[in-house]
Amino acid sequence: MLLAFTAPGAQAQETVLNLYSARHYQTDENLYTHFTQLTGIKINRIEGKEDELLERIKNESTNSPADVLLTVDAARLAAAHELGLFAPVKSKTLETRIPAYLRTDDWFSFSSRARVIVYNKATIKAGQVRNYADLANPALRNQVCIRSGSHPYNLSLMASIIAHEGEQKAEAWARGLVANFARAPKGGDTDQIKAVAAGECGVALANSYYVARLMRSDKADDKKTMAAVGIIWPNQTTSGTHINVSGGGMLKYAPHKEAAVKFLEYLASDEAQRYFAEGNNEWPVVASVKVRNPALDSLGTFKMDTLPVGSLAMYRAKAQVIFDRVGLR
Ligand SMILES: [Fe+2]
Repeated sequence: MLLAFTAPGAQAQETVLNLYSARHYQTDENLYTHFTQLTGIKINRIEGKEDELLERIKNESTNSPADVLLTVDAARLAAAHELGLFAPVKSKTLETRIPAYLRTDDWFSFSSRARVIVYNKATIKAGQVRNYADLANPALRNQVCIRSGSHPYNLSLMASIIAHEGEQKAEAWARGLVANFARAPKGGDTDQIKAVAAGECGVALANSYYVARLMRSDKADDKKTMAAVGIIWPNQTTSGTHINVSGGGMLKYAPHKEAAVKFLEYLASDEAQRYFAEGNNEWPVVASVKVRNPALDSLGTFKMDTLPVGSLAMYRAKAQVIFDRVGLR
């Protein structure tokens, strides 16, 4: 049996769940409403920026009303773990539904996104860049755009490279990457895609949902941007394309622990998985759940890196040290 929910009204004292969320998508309304319909548990939602929510939970300490934290990026989820904010959750449902590499003892991934390479179709040949390693190739001198190295998305990618290649090779890669910069890091992933389209750089890194968002946009500018760029799934003949996640966990001082586990289990259900992934053009983590996303589908299928999300966490601090050393800020 997948979800053992008690009928609404049958649990007088436990009808509330306090959710701290760094997600704010339209489909989330359906996600939460449906949970309340199924369980009778009302969701009090506090939305905030990722790092602010972590800070807040840390400061509230034992008095925190937060039951569950939902946020994006393995590096941030790892930070929450390292701060000791999460409580371990043992759940057969979560263990069965979510692949082992996408969960830890105390936090769980509920959707995934890929870090892809975007290139300018007029100036870069498609075969010229196949792997993350190619971004450090001297052939791409003055061609690379990237957001700040201290951003979790880049730290998580670097952590995966350290895990696969070891520290030395990873550092050499980071040095080569910096040597190839077209400009100092600035802006978000969408800004990098636009800079590639404008010819300010030949290649950039971006998360798949930013690509999908631009592909689905009706704005003439965005259409022009996407007409000028091509997308590469890196590392298809080696480790696979680096995957990052959105996810969450139950908090250590959660006042409603039973409701918190129910909510986490609900997020792994077929319907919730669809809402969760669709809200931000991501992929569900439960393999049997399929979403139709025309933008993502048009990019084709690809081989994912199945490095455990826990390993990304393990090498996150090292990634930052190397980025600092090579001047990737
Ligand atoms: Fe993002």
